[in-house]
Amino acid sequence: MADFNTVALEEATSADAPLLSNLLELYIHDLSDVFPGLHLGPDGRFGYDKLPLYWSERERRFAFVIRYDGRVAGFVLATRGSPAADNPDVLDVAEFFVLRRYRRSGVGRRAAVLLWQRFPGEWTVRVSEGNAGALAFWRGVVTELTGGAATETTRPGRPHPWRVFSFESAPERITP
Ligand SMILES: CC(C)(COP(=O)(O)OP(=O)(O)OC[C@H]1O[C@@H](n2cnc3c(N)ncnc32)[C@H](O)[C@@H]1OP(=O)(O)O)[C@@H](O)C(=O)NCCC(=O)NCCS
Repeated sequence: MADFNTVALEEATSADAPLLSNLLELYIHDLSDVFPGLHLGPDGRFGYDKLPLYWSERERRFAFVIRYDGRVAGFVLATRGSPAADNPDVLDVAEFFVLRRYRRSGVGRRAAVLLWQRFPGEWTVRVSEGNAGALAFWRGVVTELTGGAATETTRPGRPHPWRVFSFESAPERITP
């Protein structure tokens, strides 16, 4: 199990855009198993048009590199404002990725806890029912974080419905 101190959530600057852009390719490739509508462009990349917004809309978009023992292990993109909430201040996990090399060792859980400690408040996490591993991950981590106080709802989605976890991240409830 990853030691809490060895996992870091490092704020990404615009200098990290190429790094995040590369990680996004690996992430989207993984997600293309779940969303068959994701296709490579003619340049061999999926692309992620919204990435530059993470540095031009700094008050509403937050980008982080996950490091494990100093090495790049994944990334997190979060936004203030969620497609699953009417309140524009609700925080949302937009994208979340741990490199295969580091999976199932607690890196994702640690990174999620660090994220919620950094931004206390109302959160949503949206995950496709077709993404069984991620659904198990989020359901477990959110239940642990909230002591079961999160609500889990279903929204229409294609090709599978979305599960939406809504909860409050309260740092005092989070234990390493
Ligand atoms: C989902 C993801 C972030 C999980 O990261 P991770 O670092 O492997 O997660 P952790 O090791 O912290 O897992 C914590 C617990 O979540 C559950 N879990 C994690 N991945 C799981 C999987 N594939 N299947 C079932 N349960 C899983 C387990 O209970 C796990 O504890 P355990 O390993 O002791 O059994 C990672 O698999 C990933 O990046 N997947 C591809 C991208 C993606 O789907 N992102 C989420 C989009 S909503």
